[in-house]
Amino acid sequence: MSELRDFDKLFRLDGKVALITGGSRGLGLHTATAFLRAGARKVFITARKAEGEQGIDQAVVKLNNLGTKGTAVGIPANVANTEDIQRLVNKIKETEPRLDILVANAGATWGSRFEDAPDQSSIKILDLNVRGVFNLVKLSLPLLEAAGTRRDPSRVIIVSSTAGRNVPHVGENGTIMYSVSKAAAHHLGRNLAIELGPRNITSNIVAPGFFPSKLAQGLINKLGGTDELEDANPRKRLGEPEDIAGVMILTNSEIRNGVDITVDGGMVLSAGRHSKL
Ligand SMILES: NC(=O)c1ccc[n+]([C@@H]2O[C@H](COP(=O)([O-])OP(=O)(O)OC[C@H]3O[C@@H](n4cnc5c(N)ncnc54)[C@H](OP(=O)(O)O)[C@@H]3O)[C@@H](O)[C@H]2O)c1
Repeated sequence: MSELRDFDKLFRLDGKVALITGGSRGLGLHTATAFLRAGARKVFITARKAEGEQGIDQAVVKLNNLGTKGTAVGIPANVANTEDIQRLVNKIKETEPRLDILVANAGATWGSRFEDAPDQSSIKILDLNVRGVFNLVKLSLPLLEAAGTRRDPSRVIIVSSTAGRNVPHVGENGTIMYSVSKAAAHHLGRNLAIELGPRNITSNIVAPGFFPSKLAQGLINKLGGTDELEDANPRKRLGEPEDIAGVMILTNSEIRNGVDITVDGGMVLSAGRHSKL
């Protein structure tokens, strides 16, 4: 027999406080749901819109109706904007002296022919997917440092994309700057792992393939629709909420630092066979 310390806590987040950007829908909302169901005490979610069908308020209601012990709190903020990030962090500090988990999930994309991409699309993508993540982690540092210990570090999880590993789309539906931003997001995660690891903060990267969502649906349609993309995937399906939930909990529960975990059914490995170029 081996003494496995805290084995029953490996996939639990009891008592933890988390912040998830882009938590009002899509992968962020799946993650918030998973964290609360895994025992998190408080999950802050942020997005720009508070009201409406896709705003934070409806997400907070859904999360607080899960019947978990933990609670969800919504704070509207634009995490591409440094002043807004500082306001968000200050708001969290009003009730929590520590932050155990920070999930930088909010992201923006753009699809068009290379020569048609407006400068503004590059600014928006880089401000949110790269510069915003850098600043969010930087400004959250006191809260993260206050939570982390050698045995139980606080966690930064950057939601990147398989587009940060390959060149998924060029031509009519090119996503070149998105792909570039996600490669940068991967490398930001690796740099943070080395910078912050000694300060008891781990940094890891989750790289999803296609998950139907508001952000992905336009491109899914342009590429032939869900059925066609499912057929091209080695697992014959796209991502589902449980897939991201499982990977997020796993990423929290390990001693991992500076690694990326791809969640795409193996699609990124089969680009040669199924190229859409
Ligand atoms: N779905 C996929 O197939 C897929 C694949 C690979 C990677 N990803 C990555 O996964 C992450 C989540 O994507 P998703 O598919 O779940 O997208 P989604 O359903 O469109 O959700 C995006 C979330 O981010 C928020 N957001 C957007 N801009 C923001 C800003 N400036 N400040 C704060 N919040 C902002 C949105 O709310 P507001 O609009 O109200 O701000 C929303 O809550 C992104 O980083 C994306 O690149 C997704």
